[in-house]
Amino acid sequence: MEKIIMYPGEARKETLDWKAVQGQHITAVNHNILVLGSGGREHALAWKLAQSEGTHVFIAPGNAGTAQVGTNVNIKLSDFEAIKEFCLNRSINLVVVGPEQPLVDGIVDFFKQEESLRAVKIIGPDKRGAQLEGSKAFAKDFMEKYGIPTAKCIKINKENLSEGYKFLETVKSPYVLKADGLAAGKGVLILNDLQEAKEELSRMLDGKFGAASATVVIEEFLKGIEVSVFVLTDGEHYVLLPEAKDYKRIGDGDTGLNTGGMGAVSPVPFCTPEFLDRVEDRIVKPTLKGLKAEGIDYKGFIFLGLMNDGGNPCVIEYNVRMGDPETEAVMTRIEGDFADLLFACADGRLNEVHYAKSDKTAVTVMLVSGGYPEAYEKGKIMTGLEALKDVVAFHAGTSFNADNEVVTSGGRVIAVTAHGNGIEEARNKAYQEAEKIHFEGVNFRHDIGLDLMRMQ
Ligand code: AMP
Ligand code: GLY
Repeated sequence: MEKIIMYPGEARKETLDWKAVQGQHITAVNHNILVLGSGGREHALAWKLAQSEGTHVFIAPGNAGTAQVGTNVNIKLSDFEAIKEFCLNRSINLVVVGPEQPLVDGIVDFFKQEESLRAVKIIGPDKRGAQLEGSKAFAKDFMEKYGIPTAKCIKINKENLSEGYKFLETVKSPYVLKADGLAAGKGVLILNDLQEAKEELSRMLDGKFGAASATVVIEEFLKGIEVSVFVLTDGEHYVLLPEAKDYKRIGDGDTGLNTGGMGAVSPVPFCTPEFLDRVEDRIVKPTLKGLKAEGIDYKGFIFLGLMNDGGNPCVIEYNVRMGDPETEAVMTRIEGDFADLLFACADGRLNEVHYAKSDKTAVTVMLVSGGYPEAYEKGKIMTGLEALKDVVAFHAGTSFNADNEVVTSGGRVIAVTAHGNGIEEARNKAYQEAEKIHFEGVNFRHDIGLDLMRMQ
């Protein structure tokens, strides 16, 4: 069994106040990297980047896990001025934006416009590029314009509501309604009943998701099995990162409410070289061509949420960031220097670099708070982390209490990733170790990867 290397730092409680560290410089480090975000995705990105030689990783705002691989910095993601000052004061060379909101809010445009930040490289699209995720109507128009396979749809607002009702009457159940804008992952409704779909459409236009649902995209329901494919592009060249399958529902057997993601498996057996060739030819290349044609300079991740319908990939959605919890599996399968890859991306040199994928299978099991994705309590003391063997525990929602103990601070709490020769070995290991972690109310799915094993 391969051992996953964990960065040998000790958990530290301190979070830097960005104002208090002005003028201090960490020596013997070639690259200072700032990762923005506070979830399992950001812990996995920081964990991987900290393994690159000569890097020091800062994470803003981070969590109890990111404090083990770098230095947490107390900055709000919406405070671009504070991020700027921190970058300048700590000689940050590279910023990696974890979540979508700062990208949609224009953090990359802010960096490009600020003369003093010209030397700081940033991974992520600008505001226009981020519309691929920030506006589903924009993404659908883009796909239609550049011939990228996606579900048939209609865009509805208050003015053309009757057309929306007509469209619903012409398509078959289930009905897919999507808020145009960002709605914290909750803006997609899938309904079986026509009358209910009509009522929900009207509710959405009336502000069910605030301004995000002033426009609603109604889509045909796609059949098949989902997979997340990750592209890193410098606008000209691209590399495919390892793909992964996410498990979105709270309950075993894909039952119950949707969540942010309860587990992941990478690689995905049905993503054969032939399937991935089709993804590149039909989706990745036309997407990059379209971005160029639109004059969008895109340096960053493109997360393709795909439906595999009998070997034919179809785009469910674009995201302009990495997936969570997919990243907690994907990062463990990237071999070599990830910082090098990101610097090459920022410099437009992705054609010059090569990275290898581990041939091991990674299985990630997400431990969540009791009650999640509905109301849950925070502040539960966690034990067992120190007993884990041969796995990495990525922190998704943790912090330290006054006694320096790790406590829960979110719905998704810890993502346990194990490697194995195949899904069965990896999932056995992941579950064996996940059982060692305790906090009041802990819950997880028991069937991560089982569906893929049955398909083989
Ligand atoms: P999205 O936020 O667009 O990823 O949608 C959330 C989830 O809804 C997706 O991961 C799919 O499971 C499901 N979904 C979205 N659009 C469709 C569709 N057109 N057909 C089937 N399922 C869909
Ligand atoms: N795992 C799905 C997402 O990150 O949106």
